[in-house]
Amino acid sequence: MSSTSLKCCINPSILSADFVNLQAELARIANADAVHVDVMDNRFVPNLTIGLPVVERIQQVSPVPLDAHLMIADVDRWAPLYADAGLDSVTFHVEASDAPIKLARELRARGAKAGMALRPATAVEPYLDMLPELDMLLIMTVEPGFGGQAFLDVTLPKIRRARAAIEGSGVNVAIQVDGGITEETITRAAEAGANIFVAGSAVYGKESPEAAIDALRARGQLAFASRV
Ligand code: DX5
Ligand code: ZN
Repeated sequence: MSSTSLKCCINPSILSADFVNLQAELARIANADAVHVDVMDNRFVPNLTIGLPVVERIQQVSPVPLDAHLMIADVDRWAPLYADAGLDSVTFHVEASDAPIKLARELRARGAKAGMALRPATAVEPYLDMLPELDMLLIMTVEPGFGGQAFLDVTLPKIRRARAAIEGSGVNVAIQVDGGITEETITRAAEAGANIFVAGSAVYGKESPEAAIDALRARGQLAFASRV
């Protein structure tokens, strides 16, 4: 599939939402393409959020599909359980997986899209042969663990190389970016070839999250379509 037919998506991260009022916070982003759920275990990253029971409940009440980002150790054991919960996509960190090909296949077999994430300093080249096993490649644009960090421009060449490899091999793999996405940085990320944008503070930090989503999507679409 050519990249021009890829959809630009805005997936707000509930890391920046009010965790005591998650259902109401989900209703504020009803025009999003999916909700990005950050699972952290204080082992893979130095922060702790929510786990499977809470994610299962969010899945039951969310008006939009769930996009889980698992920043956890022992991910080969845990990720399939998130797929079993009916999530739209489940993303694991390659640095945390012992058998990423087996895991990606397991996620798909359980009905979820398979996503694989790379920390900012993890090169994409060793994993290019794996692209047909994936539905989504998540290129982290901050060090995982916390919202509100500044976008790392040093990741842009990696996004470009990943998009070129995807186009070269003719596979249908989305490129997601996560961390520091704003109305300003989304343009650079989209021009480099990203088409799914996670935004925490740039959505939930605004008075109208819905308006922020529309504005981000418009900018992302424009920049992605104008790539040369
Ligand atoms: C960070 C998380 C992100 C985070 C993004 O480790 O994976 O999803 O919520 O937050 P912002 O958009 O504020 O950088
Ligand atoms: Zn995330």
